[in-house]
Amino acid sequence: MANTHYDYIIIGSGIAGLNTALLAREHGSVLILTKGKIDDCNTRYAQGGIAAAIGPGDSPELHFKDTLIAGAGLCDPEAVQVLTREGPQRVANLIHWGVPFDTIHGQIALGREGAHSMSRILHAGGDATGQHIELTLSALVGKSNITVLEYTLATQLLLEGKKVQGVATLSTQGGQTQTFTARTVVLATGGAGQLFRYTTNPEVATGDGVALGFNAGAQVMDMEFYQFHPTALWLEGAPTFLLSEAMRGEGAVLLDESGRAFMADYHPQADLAPRDVVSRAIAAEVGKSATGRVYLDISKLPPDTVKGRFPTIYKFCLDYGLDITRQPIPVAPAAHYMMGGVKIDTWGRTNIQGLYACGEVACSGVHGANRLASNSLLDTLVFAQRLVASSIGQAPPPATPDGRDVNVTLTNRPPVCASMPSLSRENLQDFMWRNLGLSRHGSRLLLAARVTNIWQRTAPTPTDRASYELRNMALLGRLMAEAALLRQESRGSHFREDFPETSAQWEKHIVLVKQEDIQ
Ligand code: FAD
Ligand code: SIN
Repeated sequence: MANTHYDYIIIGSGIAGLNTALLAREHGSVLILTKGKIDDCNTRYAQGGIAAAIGPGDSPELHFKDTLIAGAGLCDPEAVQVLTREGPQRVANLIHWGVPFDTIHGQIALGREGAHSMSRILHAGGDATGQHIELTLSALVGKSNITVLEYTLATQLLLEGKKVQGVATLSTQGGQTQTFTARTVVLATGGAGQLFRYTTNPEVATGDGVALGFNAGAQVMDMEFYQFHPTALWLEGAPTFLLSEAMRGEGAVLLDESGRAFMADYHPQADLAPRDVVSRAIAAEVGKSATGRVYLDISKLPPDTVKGRFPTIYKFCLDYGLDITRQPIPVAPAAHYMMGGVKIDTWGRTNIQGLYACGEVACSGVHGANRLASNSLLDTLVFAQRLVASSIGQAPPPATPDGRDVNVTLTNRPPVCASMPSLSRENLQDFMWRNLGLSRHGSRLLLAARVTNIWQRTAPTPTDRASYELRNMALLGRLMAEAALLRQESRGSHFREDFPETSAQWEKHIVLVKQEDIQ
């Protein structure tokens, strides 16, 4: 039986949770709660790598510039400065901890990805970066005095006034409920790709941390910005498996159904344009085609280069009968990364005392309206370090808001009159894909806001992991729909057919709060 009081409770065991735990153990007792096995997380699947300005000719300033351009005017410059300046040191720490990054002639090998002006992506095992990080960090945790409770779902944050006190949990194996207390609670619960029918994310990515935070009164920001990765495998009978952007960095090209390279028609950076541009270009080409097919072709590279650099992808496709050293790969965009999340400052603090957030669940404004490739793993490292420093009193007092926030309190909407789909995981994923996917329209967003509001209000009282996740997904669907409806412009990953232009008036963040917690 585990203790019930700790200095730190960390919810999640991806890179954000494990890294935070390894840093926090220097300052007190640490409990990690995770709803599946320790390595059930997005991190394990990361392919391309970690971006950091460590190469010759590169600099934090260049990385800063690229991040801001990809973020389409909505990055928080201070947060991006922190990310790009402190990134190299945090990556050095991972190397020190034993993550086996690939090398060439004794130097770290650096790959290229979309919208980066330099080769600055560290990778491990070719395209198995996340697996190596997860293995290295979980092994270190296993050897430490950190307590890990697997198959333990966090169901509620416990508060006393405006201060977090602990976490209520449910065992996903035995069904027992329990509460744990701590002076510091960290949300490190990852993303929400499971909200969409087609996604690169595993089953655990259901947005629980945003729901836990929002229900406790935390501010939630930028929920309208959800990134669709341009190249997921699109093959009958196969999952929408990620085909890393690093493939295009190595020379792979997107082809239409006639075999013509089309990306130069859409952007000066062609196949290495920002993700939102590439995803929408693919959708446009699919719309124009007779077969509904678009391909990623890496067959011009020597077969040994392909097999050596992308062993996981090569093997995965071969298992489905596709030899990528010889054949073009059918691809389509899929839901990939949540830019929005629980609002934090550059020290990982939320608006609730003692509650921090780190990783994909958090939103510091570092990714703006569209995350630059491979900045996510880096984000988790940099802000984990800062939140632990903050938890031991090494951070300055929180700054006053910069006036770029539109604060919105969510209230109930009138019921929908037309017949609506019943709430199930499949119906929700299908509904979100159709109404909050790559291309959005005000009328569909209004319907989505109403339907998800009904789902929220009528979701059955949860009793097990599946029903807790479904309730959380209904809430996240609502948060995404409301923010997307409000943002009457197109910017980064958020494209509105009825407002196709970017508007200077909307160079601000939408911050959502629960009704009873507005001050
Ligand atoms: P995760 O790694 O997803 O961990 C979340 C943890 O929280 C899990 O352990 C989960 O089980 C747990 N959890 C969730 N809810 C609860 C709950 N209620 N109770 C208890 N536990 C809970 N980014 C890059 O920078 N470079 C890349 O190359 C890259 N490639 C990617 C490839 C793929 C296929 C995918 C899906 C993502 C990729 N990303 C990449 C994004 C990046 O991997 C993620 O953003 C990052 O790993 C998130 O880390 P995290 O620790 O925040 O979340
Ligand atoms: C990829 O390898 O294409 C994913 C990189 C990322 O999401 O940052």
